[in-house]
Amino acid sequence: MADVEEREDLEVLLRDEDVFDPPEEFRKQANFNDPAVYDEAEGDWQAWWESWAKKLDWFEPWETVLEWNAPWAKWFKEGKINASYNCLDRHVDNGKGDKVAYHWVGEDGDTRDVTYSELLEMTQRFANVLKKLGVEKGDVVGIYMPMLPETPAAMLGCARIGAIHNVVFGGFSVNSVKERMEVSDAKVLVTADASLRRGKPMPMKEKVDDILGDELPSLKSVIVVKRTDEDTPMTEGRDHWWHEISQEVDTDCEPEQLEAEHPLYILYTSGSTAKPKGIVHTTGGYMTGVAATHEVVFDLKPDDDVYWCAADIGWVTGHSYIVYGPLANCTTSILYEGAPDFPDKDRWWEIVEKYGVTILYTAPTAIRACIKWGDEYPNKHDLSSLRLLGSVGEPINPRAWAWYHKVIGGERCPVVDTWWQTETGHIMITPLPGITRTKPGSATQPFPGIEAAVVRKDGEIVEEGGGFLTLRRPWPGMARTLYKEDDRFVETYWSKYGKDIYNVGDAAKIDSDGYFWIVGRTDDVINVSGHRMSTMEIESAIVSHEKVAEAACIGAKDEDTGQAVVAFVTLEGRAGEGDDDMVQEIRDHVADKIGKLARPKRIVWADDLPKTRSGKIMRRLLKDIAEGRELGDVTTLRDPTVTEKIREKVASGQTDE
Ligand code: WTA
Repeated sequence: MADVEEREDLEVLLRDEDVFDPPEEFRKQANFNDPAVYDEAEGDWQAWWESWAKKLDWFEPWETVLEWNAPWAKWFKEGKINASYNCLDRHVDNGKGDKVAYHWVGEDGDTRDVTYSELLEMTQRFANVLKKLGVEKGDVVGIYMPMLPETPAAMLGCARIGAIHNVVFGGFSVNSVKERMEVSDAKVLVTADASLRRGKPMPMKEKVDDILGDELPSLKSVIVVKRTDEDTPMTEGRDHWWHEISQEVDTDCEPEQLEAEHPLYILYTSGSTAKPKGIVHTTGGYMTGVAATHEVVFDLKPDDDVYWCAADIGWVTGHSYIVYGPLANCTTSILYEGAPDFPDKDRWWEIVEKYGVTILYTAPTAIRACIKWGDEYPNKHDLSSLRLLGSVGEPINPRAWAWYHKVIGGERCPVVDTWWQTETGHIMITPLPGITRTKPGSATQPFPGIEAAVVRKDGEIVEEGGGFLTLRRPWPGMARTLYKEDDRFVETYWSKYGKDIYNVGDAAKIDSDGYFWIVGRTDDVINVSGHRMSTMEIESAIVSHEKVAEAACIGAKDEDTGQAVVAFVTLEGRAGEGDDDMVQEIRDHVADKIGKLARPKRIVWADDLPKTRSGKIMRRLLKDIAEGRELGDVTTLRDPTVTEKIREKVASGQTDE
């Protein structure tokens, strides 16, 4: 099929000043269709958030909506709440026990519907298992799991007793798991015997065994969910099968009445340095923020919608919009285990048709992959149940937006391009589907109650034009700190423009209508297929290989994955050379240290790297070379000829994997 950039049908869609008003049919029935909601929230933003907090069930009310000692926030300070109670018990008590919480779809075609009552029972049993294993309020529990119904149950089981979960994406290596468990002194780790990848079982528990033992003295117990029939090593006294141990405990577990600011979870994400940051989210404010945004942005009608956020629970999108937001709102969701193209490239569309999915939330990378595979795959299926489409994780190019709108949404579904971060906890800049006129590629306007601005380097607000994105007042789901690193929290986010202005780390433009256009990261964080990674982390993984002398990584523009990792590597003692085996060795090494997703797409062997006289590697020049741009002044380099040599190597393409 023709490349999306050449398709004339999309061209037609993208003319007409490139704006799309909410379809009239949609607008009429939308939960929010009066722009006055923005003024109302703006008039008293704390009261706006408070009105959302009141929709949750609290054991004890708050007196203070917000205590703000910048940058330290306490929302609903005196309130007592439990996230699992809000996600489960209150719905069951309301007669919704038989409602499906998750239509789980296994990669191999297995399916399982889990109702709210069943999820509550799984959760309570798991909470009792944790207690039996000695886990107490405030302890950390690791979760390293495929997409199974047990995954949300494990998270909610932690929340029930006030344990703090620390989920590690199943695509990360066990070394990443180890690092994250070590810092947080996790007592228990929940994992599976194996995960299914394109029909093949990939052992998980067996790999986890490599990191257990002396180096993780706090980690006393491992709970293993049985997904496959693979033989799995189990150590007596330490390892327990989920299905066995959860039968040894009671079905009832009273939810702990927790302070609003009690930590709900830690989620590690990449930053500018090689060391990941443990983002800490707390309970009351986070639940308020995710429930509100989930209801408003997705125009949720809990009794009618079948909602599908096709992310992985291991990322923040899964935490907020597969688990906490949807369950708080008593939503029926799809929980899909596998890849979008297994067994064939119409797998997603088959699921949409079968379950009558009404809301689909995914990332631009997935949309671009579908465009490449061809319209015939979605066209094979009846997608008329869809009424709203969402995008998250990276900037969406206008043509991908247009394709999504036309081919998937049949031109009747509003598209919400939602901007937010692990740190923000919930959606921050987004259209409201019944109100906002959308422009493909723009996340449009801050959510009601949120204040955002683009600023210059000196902090001056830019009315129209480019600069750095900032958030200028607290919001309920904001990260409260970095786990055990308060100083780093202040320094990274709350110092650059003042202690009460949040420094996002993204470049953005604001247009004459006040619409926000997110450009990308301004730090050493890169975004590959919507997965957030640190170039420094990948570099340090590469240089830990014994044959590597030096390495520099950049994220180069990539038409499929948004950005791709390109590594410039100097080998120990044999400058400039490296063969296919060496490429493989380095890629495997990175997969082992971090995870397959961090493997460089391309490795360029370099005799030397472009450095300033003080020895600092100029990554910007490497990025310019990789993306084929002219280089400006290179006279500040210690050896200006280095860039030319690298450019020749890149151009010759001989080092492609
Ligand atoms: C990028 C994912 C453009 C951005 C929820 C941000 C986006 C980083 C969008 C956070 C969007 C996320 N348009 N860019 N709609 N959404 N980003 O923490 O650079 O994994 O800072 O959170 O993804 O990634 P994270």
